[in-house]
Amino acid sequence: MNPTVKAFFDEATNTVSYVLRDPNGSTCAVIDSVLDFDHASGRTSTNSADEIIAWIKSQGLTCAWILESHVHADHLSAAPYLQDHLGGKIGIGANITLIQDTFGKVFNEGTAFQRDGSQFDALFSDGDSFMIGQLRGEVLHTPGHTPACLTYVIGDAAFVGDTLFMPDFGTARCDFPGGSSEMLYNSIQKILALPEETRIFVGHDYKAPGRDDFAWETTVREQKALNVHIGEGRPLEDFTAMRDARDATLGMPRLILPSLQVNMRAGQMPEPDDQGDVFLKLPINKL
Ligand SMILES: [Fe+2]
Repeated sequence: MNPTVKAFFDEATNTVSYVLRDPNGSTCAVIDSVLDFDHASGRTSTNSADEIIAWIKSQGLTCAWILESHVHADHLSAAPYLQDHLGGKIGIGANITLIQDTFGKVFNEGTAFQRDGSQFDALFSDGDSFMIGQLRGEVLHTPGHTPACLTYVIGDAAFVGDTLFMPDFGTARCDFPGGSSEMLYNSIQKILALPEETRIFVGHDYKAPGRDDFAWETTVREQKALNVHIGEGRPLEDFTAMRDARDATLGMPRLILPSLQVNMRAGQMPEPDDQGDVFLKLPINKL
C-alpha cells in the first residue's frame, strides 16, 4: 500500500514538510515540521505549523507520528507544538545521542540536559518498522550529512531528508560534526537500491541554476540517471573529492545555533530561568 503525500514548503528556510496518510484510513504522519523563527528579534511563530494542523484537521485525520529525518541545522522543529495540537509520537534516529553528546558540549549544557534521546518518544535504528494506520514504515539509517540521518520508506515513497536533493541540485553537505562524505555516498547507494519507480521526497529545495520553480519530488530512476553529484554511477572517490571541496567553501546555515539547541531537545526550548524567561546561547568561536 502506498501513502498519499501532501507537501508544505517553507520558503524562509527552503524546507519541505510532509504529511503522508494511509489512503484507505484516517491516520497520518508528519515529517520534518518547521517552527518559524526570526533570528533578528528572537521571536518564534507558528504559521507554518498551523497550516499543517489546519490541513490535517480539515481532512479529519489522526496523527500517529511526528517524524524527524535528522537534527536540522537550518530550521527549528515544531514537533512539540504539533504534538500538543494533534497528538502522535515524536521519532528520530537512535544516533541522536551522538548529536546530543557533541552539541551538549558545544553549548556547555549542564547535567540536566539528558544525552540519551529521552526527549523523543521513539528512537529508530536501521531496519526498524512502524505503522501509520495500515501503512508500514521502514527505517533506513542513512548517515553522512549527520550521524543520525534516517530515510523513511513507506510503500513506494522514500522521505530522504538531507541526503539527496533534486537531481539538478545534488546532495547534502557533509561537514557538520560527525558528517562524512564517504558515509553519505554509501547511504545514497542504499536509497538508490530501492525499486526504480520509488518516489523520492527531498527535505529541502533551493531551485537549481536554470530552474524557476521549487520542486521536491523525484524518483530513484531519475536520481540514478541525472543527479549532478552522484548520477551515472559516479565512483566513491570522485564524489568525496567533489563533496569535500565544495563543503570547504560553504558558510554555516543562518539558523544553525538556535536550531541545534532546540532540535536536540526534540523541538523544546531550553528550560526557562527563574523569571520564566527562555534564552538560547551564542557560543563564540566554537563552530
Ligand atoms: Fe539538514
